[in-house]
Amino acid sequence: MNPIPEQFQIKSLIHQTTFLVDGELKPWSGESSEVYSTISSTETYKPTLLGTIPTLGEKEALEAMDAAVNAYNRGQGLWPTMKVRHRISCMEKFVTQMKTKREEIVKLLMWEIGKTLPDSEKEFDRTVDYIYDTIEEYKQLDRDNAKFEKNDGVYAHIRRGPLGVVLCLGPYNYPLNETFALLIPALIMGNTVIFKPAKHGVLLISPLLEAFQNSFPKGVVNIIYGRGRTVATPIMQSGKIDVLALIGNSKSANALQNEHPKSNRLRLVLGLEAKNPAIVLKDADLDLAIDECIAGTTSFNGQRCTALKLVYVHEDIVQEFNKRFSERVDALKFGNPWEASVKLTPLPEPDKPEYIQGLIDDAVDKGAKILNKRGGETSENYIFPAVLFPVNKKMRIFHEEQFGPVIPIISFKDINEPLDDMAESNYGQQVSLFGNEVKTLAPLIDALVNLVCRVNLNSSCQRGPDVYPFTGRKDSAVATLSVHDALRSFSIRTFVASKDNDYNNTILKKLLDSKGSNFVSTDYLL
Ligand code: G3H
Repeated sequence: MNPIPEQFQIKSLIHQTTFLVDGELKPWSGESSEVYSTISSTETYKPTLLGTIPTLGEKEALEAMDAAVNAYNRGQGLWPTMKVRHRISCMEKFVTQMKTKREEIVKLLMWEIGKTLPDSEKEFDRTVDYIYDTIEEYKQLDRDNAKFEKNDGVYAHIRRGPLGVVLCLGPYNYPLNETFALLIPALIMGNTVIFKPAKHGVLLISPLLEAFQNSFPKGVVNIIYGRGRTVATPIMQSGKIDVLALIGNSKSANALQNEHPKSNRLRLVLGLEAKNPAIVLKDADLDLAIDECIAGTTSFNGQRCTALKLVYVHEDIVQEFNKRFSERVDALKFGNPWEASVKLTPLPEPDKPEYIQGLIDDAVDKGAKILNKRGGETSENYIFPAVLFPVNKKMRIFHEEQFGPVIPIISFKDINEPLDDMAESNYGQQVSLFGNEVKTLAPLIDALVNLVCRVNLNSSCQRGPDVYPFTGRKDSAVATLSVHDALRSFSIRTFVASKDNDYNNTILKKLLDSKGSNFVSTDYLL
């Protein structure tokens, strides 16, 4: 084992003994759960204890919910009625404090979820940028709405208003970025929030608790810990949640949704599973396609919803592709996240290697071969990516979202083979299309855009840049996220209308001059 650099060593444990409810960091002395890293700090392998988090129960969950409900106060609370510039000041206060926690959070990202140092830094910086971009976008939205329009003799002052109380649940693979890409727009639009961090990537929220507490009015942000089933279920059953914002899998999203007694009231902002394919046409630039497929299938060990999870290669070039691709996979360096040029890192879920092994065994039983020498090599916290070929529909790996290091390759003769599979698939997030002949690409692009929501031409799939729409069809998403779209997803159009006559116009003018209403206002921020 390579020695752990001084600055990344775990010198003290984080015991999270409070949770944030109603503006108070409430002490918790009840049951707690230990948080382990699958990374070992000793020569003989042993998971590393990082700290503990409260195991809250139904009572505390409902307390958090009541705090959020009271802060919203049927739309009359301080936060939902606050002036745009005041909400922005709260957000600025928060992000200024957040920036001071970079080192601590980056270190925890590495230990808790095994993300490489450069990727952990990127996750932090991208999240800070996301907050600033959201503030700018909100100002733009406010500028666009600072006006009256008139149609058929009726004046309208149309803005976007909050939806209410949001339950926010984030994923372990981007415990900061993806979670904040829900939380930040939800908050800035005037909603109040109950947020439960993911199981892995939970301690990295601890350095931010005080910033959440002192930046927002009480009850606007409530942060709870515990098992999803114990804390999220009663919150949903109360019927007081207006928006379920969740990045995770459709099984948990459906289970939670079904707990809500009035499903028509519940709005959903969901980023769910995907099985994004790469399609490598016979005229593709093979070097480029291999580079991008390596990044798409292996970055963060394939634990990205946008990862390439099936690779279709035209039969004329599949032998060459497989040979070069397998060699490239075997050349990837495995190590701890802080090690230089490391590409593959420990898996945060202790049972993941076994699950991936099960997928490999099933595929091999049904006729696939492991093409690369190191494929399937197992250690205590890892299983080296196996390149499986030929993969067919009878195999589990064809259908299941592996969300881990294993790469299935399928050869095709006719382009309708991958197109038919995509049409039949439960998922519809993105595709990577490799080729260069326009005559072939044109009709293909026209078909693919209607099967998924982003066609990546000669590049792997990804969410970013965050200003672009991030969504999916079928079981892959509900609603759209981007800096711009998220503000829409967490709000609703609402307006004041009045007939154009002297009586109403005088009132409107007085309303504007008095500056008594935060909604009826033509002021805007530059
Ligand atoms: O897990 C899904 C993430 O949204 C992927 O984001 O494409 O930036 O890695 P990314």
